[in-house]
Amino acid sequence: MESQATLILIKPDGLKKSLTGNILTRLSETKLEIVAAKMVRVSRELAAEHYQHLKDKPFFEDVLRYLMGEFHDRRKVMALVYWGPGACAKCRALAGATNPEEADSVSIRGSYGRITTRGVYENVIHVSAHAEDAEREIKLWFEPDEVIVDLYPTKNVVESREKRAWL
Ligand code: PPS
Repeated sequence: MESQATLILIKPDGLKKSLTGNILTRLSETKLEIVAAKMVRVSRELAAEHYQHLKDKPFFEDVLRYLMGEFHDRRKVMALVYWGPGACAKCRALAGATNPEEADSVSIRGSYGRITTRGVYENVIHVSAHAEDAEREIKLWFEPDEVIVDLYPTKNVVESREKRAWL
């Protein structure tokens, strides 16, 4: 089977419930390689771009606020890229169904997810659906140099914007 990448987001509820270690341990069962990882403060623009396919759904505003951390007082998510054969399917199997009430009770979402009274799935992690979605999502969340393998073709650009540097 050919290697592919998948984006994993540990969402604000997962961080608030201190599930990071647990989730990473569960995902290590896949024997996939972690090729990128970082904490991200999620802007509205990033959340809206990530969930662009949901923009006409009634819960769109709520999923943005959820990912931005507004419901959990944790304005961050942990973003990771897992890489190896069948990465999306292997991670999604461990994550369980998107709807936490339909997810296998031993899966990550089945164990720790819930549906809020507003009808929003708080399902602890996001996993890319398939390789094409993963490519779009990884390019949105990571710069090429933040990923330690060459996943997709790149080009060199000259940037002149001001940025912060360590003193
Ligand atoms: S779809 O229906 O195939 O276009 O959507 P999908 O790719 O499965 O992504 C749906 C994301 O929205 C989150 N979400 C909900 N989906 C359906 N119904 C409700 N009520 C709802 N609330 C939130 C869902 O968790 C999916 O996000 P991720 O991050 O993939 O879990």
